[in-house]
Amino acid sequence: GGKLEPRSGGFSFDGPLGTFDQAQLQRGYKVYREVCSACHSMNLLSFRTLGERGGPFYDPEAASPAENRFVRALAAETQIADIDTETGDPIMRPGIAADKFPAPFPNATAAAAANGGAVPPDLSVMTKAREGGADYIYSLLSGYPETPPAGLKVNDGQYYNPYMSGDMTPFWSGDPEHVPAGGFIAMAPPLVDGQVTFDDGTANTVDQMAKDVAAYVAWASDPRATERKQTGMGVLAFLAIFAGLTYASYRKIWKGVA
Ligand code: HEM
Repeated sequence: GGKLEPRSGGFSFDGPLGTFDQAQLQRGYKVYREVCSACHSMNLLSFRTLGERGGPFYDPEAASPAENRFVRALAAETQIADIDTETGDPIMRPGIAADKFPAPFPNATAAAAANGGAVPPDLSVMTKAREGGADYIYSLLSGYPETPPAGLKVNDGQYYNPYMSGDMTPFWSGDPEHVPAGGFIAMAPPLVDGQVTFDDGTANTVDQMAKDVAAYVAWASDPRATERKQTGMGVLAFLAIFAGLTYASYRKIWKGVA
């Protein structure tokens, strides 16, 4: 039983002072859009969220996230299912900033049917939903072994991943003292080297794409993280100064009192 501890993605947003790296978030969005969004929804996100302060496409020049030209262009690249208000017929139209991200499947039944019975979970808050957060997603995506350990029986439509939770004992014919860590997942390794071309020229290895998409999911799961950390540091600075003042006035008030 058990699973491997996630490897650290060495993320810029780790720790109490860490902030998101905008270039990394842009790359991560591209990986999500070109690869993951074929199967995974992000129901809580709208295109304009991408243009909020701290977000992947935040532009200080834009009057608002809805008027951000990158956001508008990204939305327009996506087809949205809608209803023609005149005829009542279903239509497809290019997205606008206010649109939610379209889901790849109309419902869980259709999603399961397309994925061998397993429903790809919504990724909106995935780094909060799994222990290990961004490190876990990074490790999972980049951690599929080329071949599963010899002696492990892997059923059709299942893939072995040492970072996935599970218990491999019933599937293991090797030494019972050395049951492989990890579990089965119904997601085939989604990334291959060179799959997504990064506009900033960053090397598109599986490792890099996995890191970048994990960072992007971490941002989506908690878009206010940077703001909150900065507020927290301000509060701590205030408390430190206030403590000093309190102590100084205490010394003054009690001066000469035996
Ligand atoms: C599960 C991420 C691409 C199908 C998952 C999970 C994550 C994830 C975090 C949850 C694992 C867990 O339960 O702990 C991603 C990312 C992708 C990606 C970041 C893009 C790089 C895809 C694609 C497909 C897919 C392209 C379909 C072809 C699934 C399915 C599951 C799943 C079916 C459920 C597996 C199970 O419950 O056994 N994915 N995924 N994913 N994903 Fe993906």
